Amino acid sequence: MKIDPWSSTTYQDYTRLRDEFGIQEFSEELWKDLPHPHRLLRRGIVFGHRGFELIHDAITHKKPWAILTGLMPSGKMHLGHKMVIDEVIYYQSIGADIFIAVADIEAFGTRGYTLKETEEMALNEYIPNYIALGLKPEKCRIYFQSKHQDVKDLAYILGKKVNWSQMVATYGFDGSANMAHIFSPLVQTGDILHVQLEKFGGVRPTLVPVGVDQDPHIRLSRDIAQAHRLYNVTVTKDKKIGVFVKVDTDIEKLLDNAEKILTALNFNKLKRITDYKAIYINDATEEDIQKIDEYFCKAEFESGSYGFFQPSATFHRFITGLTGEKMSSSKPESAIFLTGSPKEAQKKIMHAKTGGAVTLEEQKKHGGKPDECMIYELFLYHLIEDDSELENIYKSCKAGEQMCGNCKKYAAECMKKLLQNIQEKRKAAEKKIDQYLV
Ligand code: TRP
Ligand code: SF4
Repeated sequence: MKIDPWSSTTYQDYTRLRDEFGIQEFSEELWKDLPHPHRLLRRGIVFGHRGFELIHDAITHKKPWAILTGLMPSGKMHLGHKMVIDEVIYYQSIGADIFIAVADIEAFGTRGYTLKETEEMALNEYIPNYIALGLKPEKCRIYFQSKHQDVKDLAYILGKKVNWSQMVATYGFDGSANMAHIFSPLVQTGDILHVQLEKFGGVRPTLVPVGVDQDPHIRLSRDIAQAHRLYNVTVTKDKKIGVFVKVDTDIEKLLDNAEKILTALNFNKLKRITDYKAIYINDATEEDIQKIDEYFCKAEFESGSYGFFQPSATFHRFITGLTGEKMSSSKPESAIFLTGSPKEAQKKIMHAKTGGAVTLEEQKKHGGKPDECMIYELFLYHLIEDDSELENIYKSCKAGEQMCGNCKKYAAECMKKLLQNIQEKRKAAEKKIDQYLV
């Protein structure tokens, strides 16, 4: 199995995805003690992560951290696109610096849009919706890939440590792929890592919230960040903490520098073994590794190379379309659009696939199946904030006390409020766009 970020596959078996690709489970201890954890985190919709521990540490110790995500405009924005921005707005409320890339280079290379078309979709559709949903201009920048010189430079420079075999293994490219398409994952890596350059806030933990289809890009970015490091700070098999030089030139000099950094950090029991390109730190514990690594990252930047932290990521499930297939702009009956009328949304909701039984009697007797119900999914992902209200619906559905007709009416009512609220704020939002753009 391969994850193809440009296909329209739906993913059903999230446990298998985790196992097969080494995505970690987004378990309770990662979100439980965050400030007012967001419903997407509480409800398992964000089901997996890579390296979220770094983010958890930054949040709980009030250290700086950043969010970087991207949008690839493709027609009208629907509820499926809303999830990432809901997460971003939550992370902004708890102190993250926000960066949002408009993936116009990617849309050009992979979907055949012109840069102009992408720009129009971003300015007329996505960005006003983001603002209407509550994104604040403070500590937030939205930029276009094609206009961001630092991102494009990084894409080019960082590509030095990726070879063609790796691109084929990751993305399945063959001889017919066009070069703009092939290059677009490197631009995304540029997006993800540029926020750690000095002028954008420096080395710090960075979280990339995305749908699981984006995992190949996350793996590539993490590999590339690692590949550019000069040092590896780690614990060995026999439980020693060490700093290892990863390159083959200037080893003596790099070890000298490492010794200086470690001494400045007050580690004194150092043992240098030049043959192993190593300095063992006998007075360090595993808890010190992250802090030490942070200093080495910074020192690497100061010496003119790229000491990036590996970026972290969270992965969310996809919302199912109202018809039971993927929610997609190209199938309007499957999707609720943020700029669509509440009437139209109501109609789609009334026709949606539910987990109800064939007859009313049967449903009263055996109950419904909320886990297979698109209406319940709307409540879970978007419409109901209160966990106990949600639980009541779940239980009364299973117990056969809740009937689909009423349930749909309630969903349509909530949806109407949500859409009206967004659409009211959109007018003001359109005038504020400039405050967000770089
Ligand atoms: N590839 C993403 C998509 O298809 C868009 C994107 C571009 C992105 N740059 C990014 C996502 C950086 C996360 C981080 O939607
Ligand atoms: Fe879905 Fe509500 Fe019907 Fe249960 S009662 S199957 S939650 S629509």
